[in-house]
Amino acid sequence: MKDCGIKFHGQKKINFMNSIQLRKCLSLFATGITSIVTKNKSKFIGITVNSFSSVSLNPPLVMWCIDKKSSSIQDFVKNKNKYMIIFLSRKQKKISNQLASSNNRFDKKFYKEIISNSLGYLDCAMYKKISAGDHYIILHKVIKCKILSPKLPLIYYNRKYNS
Ligand SMILES: Cc1cc2nc3c(=O)[nH]c(=O)nc-3n(C[C@H](O)[C@H](O)[C@H](O)COP(=O)(O)O)c2cc1C
Repeated sequence: MKDCGIKFHGQKKINFMNSIQLRKCLSLFATGITSIVTKNKSKFIGITVNSFSSVSLNPPLVMWCIDKKSSSIQDFVKNKNKYMIIFLSRKQKKISNQLASSNNRFDKKFYKEIISNSLGYLDCAMYKKISAGDHYIILHKVIKCKILSPKLPLIYYNRKYNS
């Protein structure tokens, strides 16, 4: 097979066409979907994320990445409150789309609804923020984990939900 891959070494900034190819290639990696939720004053705020990964068992650490240009950056980077990382189930595509939009602030009732239809969740505290290119890597310490009744996960692959 002919290798027509794109090489990035030596480039400080990739050009637009190459970034399209890179995103296309990265979309071949299937992931689950998480809602990262925190509190700002009396409102809950959430963001849809597929960059979640477990990092360490001892101490219990997990990570995800946030775009530095996200309109929710202050809520997720400066916030010293608790963070909830919710693993979405196959039936929560609508929640995923909503928390990927600007309509991402909600009350406790809606928060409880997200939780009850999910696979499970982690209660976390902020551990470290690392600048990495156009994103921040957010490391959290896990305070509590909760496994809910078994359901099928929401999967993201090739820029589509796969169900
Ligand atoms: C499936 C999916 C996965 C996403 N994963 C991430 C992610 O890992 N990190 C991130 O910063 N944004 C991610 N986003 C984008 C955010 O959910 C959201 O759309 C974006 O922060 C909105 O930015 P804005 O508020 O600046 O318009 C993802 C969106 C979708 C639909």
